[in-house]
Amino acid sequence: IPVEPFDLVIFGGTGDLARRKILPALFRRFCAGQMRGDERVIGAARAEMSTKDYRAFARAAITEFDDNDACAAEHLDGFLRQLSYVALDARSDAGWAELGAALRKGRIRAFYFSVGPGLFGDLAERLYQWKLADAQSRIVVEKPFGRDLDSARALNATLAQHFDEAQIYRIDHYLGKETVQNLMAIRFGNTLFEPLWNSQYVDHIQITVAESVGVGTRGEYYDRSGAMRDMMQNHMMQLLCLTAMEPPAKFDPAAVRDEKLKVIRALDPMTPENIVRGQYEGADGRPAYRDQVEAPDSRTETFVALKARVGNWRWAGTPFYMRTGKRLKARASEIAVVFKDAPHSIFGADAGHHRNILTIRLQPNEGIELGVTIKEPGPGGMRLIDVPLDMSFAEALGPDSDDFPDAYERLIMDVIRGDQTLFMRGDEVEAAWEWTDPIIESWQEAGDDPLLYATGSSGPDDALALIHRDGRRWREIR
Ligand code: BG6
Repeated sequence: IPVEPFDLVIFGGTGDLARRKILPALFRRFCAGQMRGDERVIGAARAEMSTKDYRAFARAAITEFDDNDACAAEHLDGFLRQLSYVALDARSDAGWAELGAALRKGRIRAFYFSVGPGLFGDLAERLYQWKLADAQSRIVVEKPFGRDLDSARALNATLAQHFDEAQIYRIDHYLGKETVQNLMAIRFGNTLFEPLWNSQYVDHIQITVAESVGVGTRGEYYDRSGAMRDMMQNHMMQLLCLTAMEPPAKFDPAAVRDEKLKVIRALDPMTPENIVRGQYEGADGRPAYRDQVEAPDSRTETFVALKARVGNWRWAGTPFYMRTGKRLKARASEIAVVFKDAPHSIFGADAGHHRNILTIRLQPNEGIELGVTIKEPGPGGMRLIDVPLDMSFAEALGPDSDDFPDAYERLIMDVIRGDQTLFMRGDEVEAAWEWTDPIIESWQEAGDDPLLYATGSSGPDDALALIHRDGRRWREIR
């Protein structure tokens, strides 16, 4: 279904995110027929560049980051005709009149702040001064949304000077992932799971986002952030919220975000014995983190594992073990709900037994698996084995299903549709910082080095101990 006609300005239009994500996502939506063909996409940045050059930049980006050649052959030229460029400075008046002239009246306007948070205030102020934004306009901001509670509050306050909360779309691209949205569909679209989704039946939950890549060329940003700020405060927290929240009354922005906020506020404060942080060492010719960022005594963590408790009626007694890290064994992200043992075994202790585990595989090989205990075939008596009821999206939904829309496609279209359900509200972001700040501060005070782990491993040994001491084990990363 095509969206309303719109004009979209990408501040930071020549940046990495525009190149890798925003422009290819817009192009794919164009190919899918969701744009009418008279939208304006305006790249804005400081560099002097003509519209012709910007189109060439976008062509190169789309060719590199979109693999749908058939679509490119047919539609790329048409898409590029909608693009233009304005050289502009967020901190002076240069270029703002030109930007105003490039926008049309009576259209939805979206302003994508694909720039560092240091410029959010300047951009918001200039949009206001030059009267480029009206009550229908939307602004889109990227993470990191601050680096602690104070800075997040300050950013929220800055944006609030000129924009209403209903106009602010804070992106957490994990919420745009098909499989993450599917988590809500599984929980709230079936009668099967929800009655069991509580501490009476669930022993514990594991949330893993494992990456095999290292920090790559982003060392400068990453060394000031670390896994806690880069992944735990936002993506992991969102996964936790969607897994733990109460059923919202409706799938709408206020209801969903209210429920997520309640989860964050219910989290028990973290204590040092329940958290492990690590940093990768080099192996097989792949450099250690410290060499990559050229900071031989960097204390930045590239791995975090923790045991969180959601202190409410539903989850009291059911821990959430969460871990994320770079340069691990494999790229594998999943949420595993580990159910309690059957209360009584009628088959005797020797029959063997297995716990039911519901695994939602977020990426790759997206799908859902439920481990079920059955009888081992054969005449040997009642012996039990565990088999998976395995639903891979690629198999169940047909050959096109591994061609899921990228998270950014969904999220940008939601901005145009005016749907904030999959975006973070200001109070949610602040609550998440409120929980992570004391952890980061305690590391800074202690001044300890993170534990080293080998590239290609599952993280530091202490992360294993974190769960072993509770008589449980991590699921294998593979
Ligand atoms: C980003 C982080 O937000 O998410 C990166 O800054 C991380 O460090 C990335 O690699 C992971 O996203 P995805 O979609 O590849 O799982």
